[in-house]
Amino acid sequence: MSQARARRRDRQVYLRSHPILFALMAATRRWPATRIGMTVLAHSRSAFTDGLTRVPLDRTAEGTTGGAAGRLAGGGLLFDQEGDDHRGSRRGLAESLGADGVDRLRPVWTDVLDRRLKPLADGTPIDLVEVAAELSGATAAALLDLNVDPLELASAARAAAAAGAREHLPGLPFPSRRRAAEQAAAHLNALLSPISASGSGPGGSQAPATGTGANDSRSAATGYGLGDSRSAADGSGVGDSRSAASGSGLAAMLAVAAINTTVAGLPRAAAWCADADLWEYAETAPEALTSELLRVTAPTPLLPRVAAAPGTIAGRPVHQGDRLILITRHAVDAHHRDPFPTHPAPPQVAQLVFGAGPHACPGARLARAQLTDALTALAPYRPQVTRARADRRSALPSWSTLILTPTTKPTRPT
Ligand code: HEM
Repeated sequence: MSQARARRRDRQVYLRSHPILFALMAATRRWPATRIGMTVLAHSRSAFTDGLTRVPLDRTAEGTTGGAAGRLAGGGLLFDQEGDDHRGSRRGLAESLGADGVDRLRPVWTDVLDRRLKPLADGTPIDLVEVAAELSGATAAALLDLNVDPLELASAARAAAAAGAREHLPGLPFPSRRRAAEQAAAHLNALLSPISASGSGPGGSQAPATGTGANDSRSAATGYGLGDSRSAADGSGVGDSRSAASGSGLAAMLAVAAINTTVAGLPRAAAWCADADLWEYAETAPEALTSELLRVTAPTPLLPRVAAAPGTIAGRPVHQGDRLILITRHAVDAHHRDPFPTHPAPPQVAQLVFGAGPHACPGARLARAQLTDALTALAPYRPQVTRARADRRSALPSWSTLILTPTTKPTRPT
């Protein structure tokens, strides 16, 4: 077991699902920032932060995270907001995802971990991707105060993100891809709409989805409290979990952001931990282990953005309309610095995996707490990876299966 083996395995999630992108990222990384046609790739730390904090960004452009969020849920939803509207939405979210909010949510995912890791005690392997899906689905449902099946929610959020990403693959536009993306978004919105949440609406959970397509997915997102940016901006936002439940638009966007990053990040971090035999640090330095594993796996390895006005990235001019590929993975040295829990990267570097500036990830505290708890719960079994299959269709580099097999039994009950 070694860091090299861990790195080799982790590379598979890129090579199997995004080989061309990975090759392009690797081929251009010696320059802090480089231009290919109308695309600027930002590799260095300063290029990455310039792209997020100094260049005015078009938050609704096609092919960007904001554009995707808008298309998923009708617009006006954090990723694609700016100024006062954005600050208002963030205030509401800060309450639910601050220290108290995370403490309130913690029993939800520790319950999933207790239940789903139990087979390890008998020497039975588990699939950590399934555990991550249930854990993130249950947490998102609790955050939004929705009564939905966690696995169904996770599956719908993963399908919506994957279909959205496929729709933006380079090449000619495929109407079938667009239709698939619209249907996946409509399914997720229907699952999260107040009618499906109460189960009492006419036609049950299918009602808002009938006759689907983009317009329907949008109508599911608007007019329901938080789906409307004005109500999100008034401060009552998602801080009030009831109004969160009534806004399927923002609910869908939050579910996609929370679930896809967790299902991608948690199994990759655990696989690295197992391959490099870092389990003892889950007991001696859990926060540093989490921070280093998040840094080296960088679950959102690149952030696609579009410049709204001229600016500079690491001294290189950027023009209005330029496409920016901000490479998180390189900004945090994931490609050449192994994780060292005894000598972790400075917090201001490690935190860049969650972005920077006014749009930096509001779920970072929650994500760190979940990963720390998962690694701490797994550590007593010193599990090894006995089977792993990369997910070729997912929006983020991920495992579709990650089987962990215990090598020891804890000496005392965990
Ligand atoms: C390991 C897990 C996670 C990673 C790596 C991650 C990463 C990111 C990144 C890179 C951004 C864009 C930041 C920027 O543009 O500067 C972002 C935004 C966001 N994330 Fe996360 N995230 C994670 C988990 C979560 C969770 C658990 C939630 C919710 C519970 C969440 C909710 C959001 C939201 C709502 C935004 C949009 C914020 C805005 O535009 O103002 N994320 N995340």
